[in-house]
Amino acid sequence: MPTPFYITTPLYYVNAPPHLGGTYTTLVADTISRYKRMMGFDVKLLSGTDEHGQNIERAAKKQGITPQELADRVYAQYQKLWSLLGVECDEFIRTTDPRHDVSVGELYLRAKANGYVYKGSYSGWYCVSCEAYAPESDPSTPVPCPDCGRQTEWFSEESYFFKLSAFQDRLLDLYAKNPMFIRPESRRNEIVSFVKGGLKDLSISRATLKWGIPLPDDPTHVFYVWFDALIGYLTGIGFKTDDAKFSKYWPVDTHLVGKDILRFHTVYWPAFLIAAGVATAKSVFGHGWWLSKDVKMSKSRGNVMDPFVLNEVFGSELLRYYLLREMVFGQDCNFALDAIIQRFNSDLANDLGNLLSRTVAMISKYRAGRISGPGAAKGDAEVRELAARIIDSYRKNFDDYNFSRGLENVWELISRVNKYIVENEPWAIAEKPSEARKLDSVLFHAAESLRLIAALLAPVIPKTAQTLWEQLGLDGKVTSVRLSELRWTDELTGKTTRSGASLFPRLDPKEVMKKMDSLTQQTSDTKTEAPPAASQPGNLAPQITIDDFAKVDLRVGTVLEAERVKGADKLLRLVVDLGFEKRQVVAGIASAYQPESLIGRKIVIVANLQPRKLRGLESNGMIVAASVGPEDKPVLAGFHEDVENGARLK
Ligand code: MSP
Repeated sequence: MPTPFYITTPLYYVNAPPHLGGTYTTLVADTISRYKRMMGFDVKLLSGTDEHGQNIERAAKKQGITPQELADRVYAQYQKLWSLLGVECDEFIRTTDPRHDVSVGELYLRAKANGYVYKGSYSGWYCVSCEAYAPESDPSTPVPCPDCGRQTEWFSEESYFFKLSAFQDRLLDLYAKNPMFIRPESRRNEIVSFVKGGLKDLSISRATLKWGIPLPDDPTHVFYVWFDALIGYLTGIGFKTDDAKFSKYWPVDTHLVGKDILRFHTVYWPAFLIAAGVATAKSVFGHGWWLSKDVKMSKSRGNVMDPFVLNEVFGSELLRYYLLREMVFGQDCNFALDAIIQRFNSDLANDLGNLLSRTVAMISKYRAGRISGPGAAKGDAEVRELAARIIDSYRKNFDDYNFSRGLENVWELISRVNKYIVENEPWAIAEKPSEARKLDSVLFHAAESLRLIAALLAPVIPKTAQTLWEQLGLDGKVTSVRLSELRWTDELTGKTTRSGASLFPRLDPKEVMKKMDSLTQQTSDTKTEAPPAASQPGNLAPQITIDDFAKVDLRVGTVLEAERVKGADKLLRLVVDLGFEKRQVVAGIASAYQPESLIGRKIVIVANLQPRKLRGLESNGMIVAASVGPEDKPVLAGFHEDVENGARLK
């Protein structure tokens, strides 16, 4: 009987479309699942959507639809994205699934029966966006949200509480006895000191909210979002609805999450489970963040990449390869389009693509497509030994979730084999019958190395691996290889290769950027809500609340550089000093201002607008200007007094 292996992604909020962060977690989870399946495990990969809560209720209201409609819409986007990216989920749990009401209710009743739930009243500074209270609770001192920095609101309400304070020792004991519970090691200490600092009881219900699961014994309350969401990991594998399945896969082997939600998974979640008498997870891994110019990519900062656009421009295989290869799992990493192109052209097109195409082409040209058995060439034994070592260290690295290292291992083999081919000069010996055994050997060693490489790459780039497999003349699926038994063999002898189209035609950075721009433009055009009815005097935009206005971050800056944008009559490229950073902004003001006249001028920019590309240039903000006359001539906003850079307009 294969050993079960259960792995989860977080359940994603449905108040916004999928973004790169969650896409990354899911691609890693899919890679691990594919790897474990090929290692012979009986794998369950669960992903899902977190559909309840105030944020979702608000987002739906803004769009004029019901929360359920919004959830259905975003759920469908996730389904589509996972299918485009080749993610094979075994379970996808939506927290609005009726099965989920059953398991949340059950866990709550068990925790309550064990004395860990009581009714009280909760007051505190609450961040509606993160759906979490700030730790400080002095009503006289408003505090910003510790996670996103937004303004919090003072809330007071009747609530059911979970006695988290009773779990300090048990949690510390859990961490001490299970060194793998919190990974990576570096994050463990943070959690341990957080718990050592003392734990407060946790509000787990809201009487003010409608969009949630009612408490089974007090339907005037619904569950608060983390208690609801975390239990999705149980519901998805049959807690209370399919006992056999549940006991087979629980406790989960790995919860994969981003570091910002590690605390919920390593403090709250084990406490909920212990309180209800359910086993805790074996391991929780908190990975790092994708950054844009050293700043976290996030929906609220508006600097996230749209995974649909990335897939359209680069394709799922390159995206998977780049994300897994570039980020050292556990650490933060900058996301950069030129780095994707570079990875593609050097690793895929040059190293792997060349190895495959020259190997298949030579077998076809010199041996009519038939792979002969090994002969004797310079470096044969070295290539075989290296392959064995690489398989070994790749497995160790993948077992430890060191994907970038594991992929480096594979590329070490690819480089060595490319070098081995060059050293033996098959093109020079092809015409000499006396060198036939040498040529056979070169072709065989290259092909067999590629067979191993295909198997090793299958968890990360499954479509490419399958193509390699087929071009080598192998039938069936590369995924049927048992990685645990993978070794150098003679099984390719006698196979007939099948040449195919070039796997990786090189990417032209200019073309890529052009495509990226036009798609980003299209999606941002379709995403933008209709502008307020023309800027006619008196024709005001619809009313907004003070909170809506607070979302617009207007800042003072000084123009440091200004120049015309080639080929665009209306655009100027500016570099603006905001005090805390310098920004490039592209503005449609060239008809009204000479670039030189702007240098040193104080202006106002919308500083938290999503970056967008104009004529290939990234614009990180929008300049505030009055629009004057029938031709909408821009007139820049400014000040009579001296104002320092970075000052915020309120
Ligand atoms: N609904 C909760 C999770 C509940 S799990 C029971 C949630 N949802 S989320 O939609 O906000 O998903 C966030 C996931 O994306 C987290 O794992 C988070 O760490 C990850 N990322 C968000 N931004 C990220 C980056 N810039 N980089 C990498 N991952 C980051 O939280």
